[in-house]
Amino acid sequence: MRIVQVSLGHRSYAIKVGSGLLPRLGAECAQLKLGQRCAVVTDSNVGRHFARAALKSLSASGFEPVLITVPAGEKSKRLAVVEKCYDQLAAHRLERKSFIVALGGGVVGDLAGFVAATYLRGIPFVQVPTTLLAQVDSSVGGKTGVNLHAGKNLVGAFYQPRLVLADLDTFKTLPKREFVSGLAEVIKYGIIYDAVLFAQLERNLPKLLQRDAPTLRAVVARCCEIKADVVGQDETESGLRAILNFGHTIGHAIENSSGYGKFLHGEAISIGQVAAARLSQKLLGLSSRDVERIGKLFVQAGLPVKLKLNPARRKKLFAAMQLDKKVSGGEIKFVLAEKLGKVVWGQKVLPAVIEEVLAGLP
Ligand SMILES: NC(=O)c1ccc[n+]([C@@H]2O[C@H](COP(=O)([O-])OP(=O)(O)OC[C@H]3O[C@@H](n4cnc5c(N)ncnc54)[C@H](O)[C@@H]3O)[C@@H](O)[C@H]2O)c1
Ligand SMILES: [Zn+2]
Repeated sequence: MRIVQVSLGHRSYAIKVGSGLLPRLGAECAQLKLGQRCAVVTDSNVGRHFARAALKSLSASGFEPVLITVPAGEKSKRLAVVEKCYDQLAAHRLERKSFIVALGGGVVGDLAGFVAATYLRGIPFVQVPTTLLAQVDSSVGGKTGVNLHAGKNLVGAFYQPRLVLADLDTFKTLPKREFVSGLAEVIKYGIIYDAVLFAQLERNLPKLLQRDAPTLRAVVARCCEIKADVVGQDETESGLRAILNFGHTIGHAIENSSGYGKFLHGEAISIGQVAAARLSQKLLGLSSRDVERIGKLFVQAGLPVKLKLNPARRKKLFAAMQLDKKVSGGEIKFVLAEKLGKVVWGQKVLPAVIEEVLAGLP
């Protein structure tokens, strides 16, 4: 097992990464000195595979867990579902020292985290992330929340978990497309922060794709370390945290303009990162060798790097980019790379230049 310590003063906590962790959930929670009653929030897919193990482990350590299962999918990240969770917490008489376990991917983590942040003005919560994206990204950093009809993640709170248990065994049932999508965030950490990690990924990608546990343990732990490091320096997103958005300006626009669901998040930001690398070459002199390595790694991972754009789709994509909060005075702000492992944020790019880069995508 690897332990990554997230240092946020009195809200510091540990991220434990390894195999066989779910059966130890109860024992781990016992160490946190929490109340007896708790709720395990999960979704219909994850619950089928792992709810029993979670409940058994909690009961064996003397806790009284109630299971709350929400439908799988982004649609569960909404206020109506939050309210249903509150009602079940109240029915099970959870009180201030009681806690919530978020067992699932980013949807469950964001939803259950928000419920924990607001029920009784905040009760403790523990994350058990079960997708690669959730282990390396959404479970770290303390952002919780739900969507509104008007847009994604518009209601939320910064709220830190007491513990994150990243059990690599849960990947055994994760669909391949979801796993590969998570790799796009993994590769991102190499590009924005750690050229050594990037080179390791180039060497170990086949092992990662086979979900080899020791390789995954090292990589997941390093990604958590990087995110924790960035978030620790900028918890509320006033500066440095922006670098985590590498590839996301175009990526979000792709997700938006193609209708949510066509591309998984990782697929969209894979295309976005390759485009951002080309912008970096044009504007910051990122070497053609680095641009090539970046493109190649995403391709090897099995992620898309191109987008066919007819004039109508291009127009929709640009409209979506203009709506993004990173626009000021007609120029769109990007995170761009100077070299592998080193990026700068707030780089203003004119739409015409983005157009050129996207047009270069065959
Ligand atoms: N809070 C943050 O900082 C942050 C960061 C990035 C993303 N997010 C959010 O995360 C969400 C996406 O997370 P996600 O990609 O994990 O999606 P998800 O939670 O919807 O999980 C993807 C799919 O895989 C299934 N699944 C999960 N784990 C499984 C397992 N081990 N075995 C079998 N099936 C499994 C789920 O039921 C779902 O169908 C989005 O809502 C996004 O906004 C939040
Ligand atoms: Zn992302």
